[in-house]
This record gives sequence, C-alpha cells and structure tokens, in this order.
Amino acid sequence: AQPVVLDVDTGVDDALALMFAVRHPGLDVRGISCVAGNADVDQVVANTLAVLDALDAPEIPVARGAEQPLLETARDARHVHGADGLGDQGLPASSRATFGGGALEMMRMAVLDSPEPVTLVPLAPMTNVALLLRAYPEVKQNIAGIVAMGGAVTGGNATASAEFNVWHDPEAAAIVLGAGLPVTMYGLDVFSQVVVEQATYEVLRDDPDPAVALAGRLLAHSHGVIRSDPAVGHGGLIGDAGAVCAVARPELLTTHRWPVHVALAPGLTRGQTVVDRRYVLGEDSVHGVDSLGHLVDVALDVDAEGTRDLFL
Ligand code: BDR
Ligand code: CA
Repeated sequence: AQPVVLDVDTGVDDALALMFAVRHPGLDVRGISCVAGNADVDQVVANTLAVLDALDAPEIPVARGAEQPLLETARDARHVHGADGLGDQGLPASSRATFGGGALEMMRMAVLDSPEPVTLVPLAPMTNVALLLRAYPEVKQNIAGIVAMGGAVTGGNATASAEFNVWHDPEAAAIVLGAGLPVTMYGLDVFSQVVVEQATYEVLRDDPDPAVALAGRLLAHSHGVIRSDPAVGHGGLIGDAGAVCAVARPELLTTHRWPVHVALAPGLTRGQTVVDRRYVLGEDSVHGVDSLGHLVDVALDVDAEGTRDLFL
C-alpha cells in the first residue's frame, strides 16, 4: 500500500478524507498531524480522534501540531464547519491517546521509518508541513511528493482572491511550494466539483456502519454550507477527500505544470496563489518575462464522477 501522512484541520471534509484514507486498501496511513485551521488545534485533535473511533480505525499516530500560523493568529472557520468544527454531530469524545512528542517528531518518524517514500497530504493550512521541512530537511529524501488541498487558479473562498488553507498561513504555503519537492495543488477549482447528491447521502445516513452513516450526515452538512461549482449540480461536497482520492488514483486529475507564487503582501491579494498559465514547460521565460514562483502540478480539472464513485 502507498504510505501517506495526512495533515488535517478536521473539519467536516477532512473527516471525509480521513474516512476514505483509512478505508482505502491501497493507502497506508502512517500518521495524522493536526493543525489550527477550521477550528483551534485542540478541537481539531478531538475531532480527528472521534472520527477514527467512528471508523473503528486501527491505531494510527495522531499528533497535535501548530496552534497558530507562522506569523499571524489563528482564524477559524466555524461559520462553515459548525461550533465544534465537525458539523455539530455530537460524536462521543475519544479515549485514544495522541502521540506524545508533537507533530514534527511524529511526521519525521512516520516519513523516515517508512520502507517506501511517503506522500504528504496537507488538507489544511500548511504550518506543520513548513515547520517539518525547515526543522528536519532530511525527511525530503523519503518524501515521494506532496498532494495538497490548497490554493486556487481562478478565485478564492476565504477572500475574493485566496483559498482558506493558503490564506490562513501564506508563508507556510510559500515554504512548502519552494521546498524542491514535487507538489500537486488540488485547489478550489477541483475541490468544488466533486459532490454526492442528496438521494445518495440520504441512503448513506441510514447505513448500519456508523462510519458510513456519519459520512452521510457530514455530506448533508456540507451540502448546506459549502458552495459547489454551479456547473456540477447540487449535493454535499467531498472536499478534502477528493485530494486523497487523487493520491490513490492520480489519473482522475488533469494537471498542468505551471509556476505558482504565493502572494504575501498585506491587502486584498494576501494568500492568493498566482498561477502563471502563460508558462510552457521547457522554456525559461514567457513573453520575455521571467516567471515568478515554483513549478507545481496544478489540478485544473477532475473526473468528478469517477472521484465520487471512488469515494463512495
Ligand atoms: C479548505 O478549507 C477548509 O475549510 C476545508 O477543510 C478545506 O481544507 C477549503 O478551502
Ligand atoms: Ca481541511
């Protein structure tokens, strides 16, 4: 199975991503690091453990990571994800223990102890991943690549220009994109396309498997609060789970290798991922203007039905 380390801010759609990753036989979840994002980091840890309980998941190291972005204070998204950050499902508190040494130590061990190179999957602000790559650059030798939910080619959700995960910690995203590792950007453009329609999630809600029933309830919550691309019809977005689907089946994505620059200046564009679509692979400059940014495999399209079917 393909080794992965997930970095989450659970989060309704992070929960769906955890479910998919744990239950997919082709993926080996070696660790889960938690970071402030949709909710504060302690709530994110509690939510992550509660989801693993609902899944009846085997022991997987879960670690508490950064409680705030590199430069700014945390700004949660409870208006989207509910007061508890998990759609207020009233899940029982877990008695699972967290990894004692914190997120960076856990991630370092999970990567370096893996017999096969690991894919890092940040589904949240990239604070933990940036700190890991700076604190322990030796991990890069056993990282196959990074598949990140973050950014957007065509417009934001946290602001008009910035997607939430990059907006929450733009410096961290800039560090991750600039780390010299292969990065796939699963941005809002594809994130907003994969929906489970109402008739389907209603069936899931009645499933005898508590994890499947929870997925149905989370999709119903998602349907109410997260806007899908109007072109794809209505339903509950699987959100972050789509990025994990793309780790399992990369051919579901259509990507372009383009330079991506994270706008860091204060103001309306802070946290925007500026994607240079003029770039042609193998040419040094475009129209005589050197491109800013690092080359990233930017997802521009997704097989939405194939991804939904894989998720289901
Ligand atoms: C991202 O922000 C969070 O609210 C979601 O979990 C997802 O990771 C979308 O912008
Ligand atoms: Ca998330």
